[in-house]
Amino acid sequence: MEEGNLTSPAMDGGKRVREFEELLKGYLKVKNVVAVNSGTSALHAGLLAAGIGHGDEVLLPSFTFVATANAVMATGARPVFVDILPTDYTADPIDIERKITDKTKAIIPVHLYGHPASMNQILEIREKHSLLVIEDACQSLGSSYFGRQTGSIGNMGCFSLYASKVLTAGEGGAISTDDDDLANNLRMIRNHGMVEGYDTRVLGLNMRLPEISAAIAKVQMQKLPRILELRRKNAKLLHQLLGAVNQRLSLKLPIEPNGLSYNWYLYTVTIYNKRDEIKKQLNNAGIGATIYYDPPVHMTPYYSTISDGIKLENTEMASKDVLSLPVHQSLTEVEIRFIANKVVEAMDN
Ligand SMILES: Cc1ncc(COP(=O)(O)O)c(C=O)c1O
Repeated sequence: MEEGNLTSPAMDGGKRVREFEELLKGYLKVKNVVAVNSGTSALHAGLLAAGIGHGDEVLLPSFTFVATANAVMATGARPVFVDILPTDYTADPIDIERKITDKTKAIIPVHLYGHPASMNQILEIREKHSLLVIEDACQSLGSSYFGRQTGSIGNMGCFSLYASKVLTAGEGGAISTDDDDLANNLRMIRNHGMVEGYDTRVLGLNMRLPEISAAIAKVQMQKLPRILELRRKNAKLLHQLLGAVNQRLSLKLPIEPNGLSYNWYLYTVTIYNKRDEIKKQLNNAGIGATIYYDPPVHMTPYYSTISDGIKLENTEMASKDVLSLPVHQSLTEVEIRFIANKVVEAMDN
């Protein structure tokens, strides 16, 4: 506040923005990070930077926050929804390949709940069909896939700094890429396509991250390892405590496969049969158990009018069964035990 620079219209951004970008760049081990004002802007800018627009198709899961699809719509391209794997709720590579047409330009895998999508198979499909991969890593900062940070594996990775995220600035976002040309486009796009003064060279918008938000994000970056450690500790305890109930087969707990590391943005369980009833009981006990996402995007009123009655079996099933339990870094052991006890109690009722 004392510096007086609340934001900067320079193509490279203000001082704090550049400092935040450097920190995230180092963390992700990528060549470029471009900070923007939301995860939605990150996705929108990424698609624009790749030249995606009218007449193009983009493949993405319907089991995601609607922003992923909205960003595609905002470019004029058509979102084509793919089904998910029932194991980790991320895009099913077989369905991705099945839905490729000669109009397909890009795939947006979403690392939902912080679970890395099947990137090896998705990269193979990218090579085979000459597509782009734009990772929606809005929920997965800190998750890794065989040693690589999610968001650093495809052509671009998009992050959100929204209030609920593992790393937050209230609102904000960022795009990572090893491609210098894309990074240059992204820097123009976040600033109305301008380079020097009012010389708009490409279509862009105001997607700038304010300096105050960048200052908050910078401090949060320093806390990130500790945040991840505490979330992991909470997830581990929940897992241990819920393990006994798990054997009843009506409750499925999230499993971190070998080689993958979750950021535990969400601890999402699957409850067969009485999910809504259990959620209600947990909410009544003051526990913020939440459903992400019901309905899935293709069944929302807006998207159901444009997605041609498409049927996505695993997605539709998951939307009826998933429940995310609190795992935030600020929760105490007593609170985690309380949550686990209430889940067991609700399952027994
Ligand atoms: C999977 C996913 N994609 C995109 C977004 C959009 O991010 P933002 O809310 O920062 O625009 C979010 C978060 O809200 C998200 O969870």
